[in-house]
Amino acid sequence: MGKVYVFDHPLIQHKLTYIRDVRTGTKEFRELIDEVATLMAFEITRDLPLKEVDVETPVQKAKSSVIAGKKLGVVPILRAGLGMVDGILKLIPAAKVGHVGLYRDPETLKPVEYYVKLPTDVEERDFIVVDPMLATGGSAVEALNSLKKRGAKNIRFMCLIAAPEGVEEVKKYHPDVDIYIAALDEKLNEKGYIVPGLGDAGDRMFGTK
Ligand code: PRP
Ligand code: URA
Repeated sequence: MGKVYVFDHPLIQHKLTYIRDVRTGTKEFRELIDEVATLMAFEITRDLPLKEVDVETPVQKAKSSVIAGKKLGVVPILRAGLGMVDGILKLIPAAKVGHVGLYRDPETLKPVEYYVKLPTDVEERDFIVVDPMLATGGSAVEALNSLKKRGAKNIRFMCLIAAPEGVEEVKKYHPDVDIYIAALDEKLNEKGYIVPGLGDAGDRMFGTK
């Protein structure tokens, strides 16, 4: 069964408070999401395998470690997931980036897929699917289906704020996928928004309504 990790690092929690704050404007919202994505990327890469290499320091030759040639793919769920990509690439600059375009139908709350483009070597890559919000879980489940249908085998899901309902949905349909979140909120409201959440992530990030 997939594990759920909540990143309780004080810097992540501090920045998340300002991301939630209704008074935070688009520019600052984007900057904060970018910073939190970097901090989360630092935590999520904790278990990347290392290999030993030789290095010559100014003092002497030594053995040291580098990341073993893992092929990583970062896949934002459009739109809001885009805001997390640069923050992750600051730490993993060689990662390839795929895109899954989904929007949630406002009436049915069901995801509608409109775009998919993934990096090459899908079967050999480890993927991190990113989206700030995991609400009903419909979008995450659909994005994970989309990757698996194209051959992805090793996938993690990373988001800022999750509702318990969304976590359960991902665990039900993708028990092999570990979930990494900054906060597990209370519930969904009648419109499918996370409570207390941060509102509409895409609209706050791009200044739309
Ligand atoms: C938001 C969010 C997730 C989805 C989560 O996107 O970024 O993708 O809702 O909701 P769910 O778990 O109930 O599926 P939205 O559909 O608003 O699209 P947008 O990013 O294009 O605004
Ligand atoms: N999508 C968002 O952007 N926010 C929510 O609270 C739920 C879904």
